[in-house]
Amino acid sequence: MNDSKNNDSSRRGFLSSGLLLSFVGLAAAAGVCLCSIGACKKKEAKTPVISRHLITIKSGRVSVKVDKVAALDHVGGAAKIVHPELDDRILLIRVNKHGFVAVSNRCTHKGGEVVYNKKEKKLICTNYGHSVFMLSGNVIKGPASRALKTYRLMTIDGNLEVFT
Ligand code: FES
Repeated sequence: MNDSKNNDSSRRGFLSSGLLLSFVGLAAAAGVCLCSIGACKKKEAKTPVISRHLITIKSGRVSVKVDKVAALDHVGGAAKIVHPELDDRILLIRVNKHGFVAVSNRCTHKGGEVVYNKKEKKLICTNYGHSVFMLSGNVIKGPASRALKTYRLMTIDGNLEVFT
């Protein structure tokens, strides 16, 4: 008796999870962003976080000892600034030998983390890769409709200054 009850409930669980997976699969195949049906999860990307001892924050300016950040020692490298004193998480990307780009790493759709795709030279939301942005922050593909926030940069005494 108990066995048949257990079998029934596990069968029901299996069927409902199968239905959910089918629904999610159909939605994705139909081009419906899963974020819009609440299926997005806030994932933490593998982009390295810049160590706090390499960052100084003063008067709205974030100073980064960029030469000491291993993830930024080559073109195409990316690392993020995550600090409790900042309202935003900032993604730094080395775009050429001396040049960097700084953008918000929060997708303007529903806040999913944005990562740099070195091969395509694009910024891609980790939530199913739906929203894609140019390095300028402009949207290439939605559902995000607004550009990513970008930050002005300057190199002073070997440090990269990010103006927030
Ligand atoms: S959070 Fe939905 S596409 Fe980025």
